[in-house]
Amino acid sequence: MPGFATYLLGALGAIVIARLVLSLFKRPSLPLPPGPKPVPLIGNIHQLPKSLQWLELYHWSKKYGPIMHLSMAGQPLIILSTHQAAHDLLNRRSSRYSDRPRLVMAGELVTKGMHMLLRPYNGQYRLHQKMEAPLLTLRAASNYRPLQDLESQQLLWDVLGEWDKFGEKGVDFHHHFERAMASTIYCLNYGYRLQTGYEKELMDGKRVQAEFARTGQVGAYIVDSFPSLNHLPKFLAPWKKEGEELFELERQLHVGNLRKGLSSGKWNFAKHMKASSEAAGMPEVELAFDLGILADAGLDTSTVALDWFIVAWITSGSRGWVKKAQQLLDEVVGKDRLPNFEDRPKLAYIDAIASETLRWRPVVVQGVPHFTKTEDEYMGYHIPANSTVLPNAFAITRDEAVFGGDVDNFIPERWLAEESANEHSDICGFNTSALKDLPHTGFGFGRRICTGRLIARNQLFIQMARMLWSFDVEAGVVDESTGARHKVHDMDCTEGFVTLPKPFRMNEYLFFSRWDLTSQRKVGRNLVLAETIHR
Ligand code: HEM
Repeated sequence: MPGFATYLLGALGAIVIARLVLSLFKRPSLPLPPGPKPVPLIGNIHQLPKSLQWLELYHWSKKYGPIMHLSMAGQPLIILSTHQAAHDLLNRRSSRYSDRPRLVMAGELVTKGMHMLLRPYNGQYRLHQKMEAPLLTLRAASNYRPLQDLESQQLLWDVLGEWDKFGEKGVDFHHHFERAMASTIYCLNYGYRLQTGYEKELMDGKRVQAEFARTGQVGAYIVDSFPSLNHLPKFLAPWKKEGEELFELERQLHVGNLRKGLSSGKWNFAKHMKASSEAAGMPEVELAFDLGILADAGLDTSTVALDWFIVAWITSGSRGWVKKAQQLLDEVVGKDRLPNFEDRPKLAYIDAIASETLRWRPVVVQGVPHFTKTEDEYMGYHIPANSTVLPNAFAITRDEAVFGGDVDNFIPERWLAEESANEHSDICGFNTSALKDLPHTGFGFGRRICTGRLIARNQLFIQMARMLWSFDVEAGVVDESTGARHKVHDMDCTEGFVTLPKPFRMNEYLFFSRWDLTSQRKVGRNLVLAETIHR
């Protein structure tokens, strides 16, 4: 009896030959966009490095220009590397470019078509978008600020507490950022807070996310390159069993959380969605996944943005932006209270720091792929039907035509507008007259743009303002064996869907209080509040 490998090779061979024959008959009149030369059958797959692919795509964009074509074993991959190109196709022609490429493992087996980020652009996707929409508007986001205010107070409290406990050994700020964001989003979604960041729900949620990053990786599963392999029986397709196990892990987490939310005495997204007309007749598991993915999508992204903010602080803060921000905070806020959302119109510089963080180190550095089912033309090139279309995030955020010069450096000033007599802030306090209307490409494009971006912006503002107000940060606890201080390199990062700075483990960063926060803890308005949180 032929073995698994023989079946696999036979199936692959048939698919590749069919693709080749089809491509010979369908010759478009316009050329494909330029790109590195593909080889027969596998195309450009072998030229993509195993690690830091986004950096290679950035270098290629310098050689091949704003639109590139790669062949992933015959599957066209179009890469957009300037803001103009991404805007023209993904924003302006969004009716054609809002689909997602098919991911058999992560999208169909592990999440059974219910992952919002991976859903094809169809009626069911739009139903879910409609169900979420009222909870994610600017007005809705403005209502969540008291919760973000509270969570950011606990953040300071936790950092201070750890400083008291470990002193010179450093502070695990990643954990505290993660707890604050997770607690915000779990409270909104399900009506319960996460006070330690070690709760079982969060641990399971983090495992689900790690599995999503792993199973969704390009090349991780052969079935993603050759979806017809999924027709193989289970005993020849080992990924199916793995998919079932991962689905069960995720189902239990999301359904458990949904039930908790619905039985909670407090208002939350779960209750609101369940009562919506869109949810009428929707299976419990589908509603649970909608909420669960919303929580997953918000957690890592916002936490990582704050991690990069600390890296920028350590590696480029001495160039003046930290001092400038702290002087502004001292003028506007003083030292007897914490900055709050009411101060935000006067603290546009803090929002400029948040925007610059998302530009300087885009959280999803390789971009989130879109997909088009219809063929198209752009800049004199042919875009084939069924192309994956990737906004090359690292290149786009370095587009000098949009963001000005010195793009590799952290310069919040690039976001500041000329002084204007007509002051205007939105209802969340974001000062629209003091800040330039530059594109926030870190949140993606078109109809698939990040739906949680307003909540995220509020979270970044309050946490960055309060961290800058409270602390000075230094890198590098002394390494006991060598006696040298640990150096932080601003490009040192992990691989994966979101890109974390390295190292982000404990004992690497020192946070020094700017004020005598110990005495404030007894008498200060805000830290007394923080004590209430802990009770
Ligand atoms: C700094 C924080 C964040 C960043 C940088 C970020 C970034 C992104 C990006 C790049 C996308 C893909 C857009 C595209 O395909 O063009 C996305 C999608 C998404 N984000 Fe965010 N995000 C953040 C926070 C959040 C938060 C707090 C939530 C939830 C409250 C959220 C929920 C979502 C959802 C549900 C999607 C899927 C949208 C779709 O495919 O239709 N995100 N985000």
